[in-house]
Amino acid sequence: MHRHEWEVGECEILRAPNVLNGLATAVAAFTGDGDGIIVQPPVFFDFYDFIKENNRELALTPLFLKDGRYEMDFDGLRQLAEDPKNKMLFLCNPHNPVGRVWSAQDLKQLGEICHETGVVVVSDEIHGDITFPGHTYIPF
Ligand SMILES: Cc1ncc(COP(=O)(O)O)c(C=O)c1O
Repeated sequence: MHRHEWEVGECEILRAPNVLNGLATAVAAFTGDGDGIIVQPPVFFDFYDFIKENNRELALTPLFLKDGRYEMDFDGLRQLAEDPKNKMLFLCNPHNPVGRVWSAQDLKQLGEICHETGVVVVSDEIHGDITFPGHTYIPF
């Protein structure tokens, strides 16, 4: 299958009943009780309840507004990622609710930080098909 400039083999696709169940499966597979999961508020509200209900801890690195656009705080992200307690990051790409379509540079920088620190990125891309003209969604 080829979409969004991304070639995906059929054997790489697993079906989940919905997005939150997919996230739950990843949390169960890659984290344990009490581990931290990094999220970037403001973000889809179910992320918060869902992390707490699964006995994981929220690790928050808020987005910030710059020139009318939300940006990631990469210093804050690195600080949390370097804490061995934090094992996973929920990325929202594009980001609900702020509507940011993350750039290749944003995704690369986030990926490098998480790769260096061993943080597993779980990217929720449910809104990938909904972008304004002139903005290109890039699968993480
Ligand atoms: C970012 C995000 N993830 C997940 C969901 C819900 O997905 P599902 O109902 O498939 O669990 C929503 C719904 O608004 C959403 O905005």
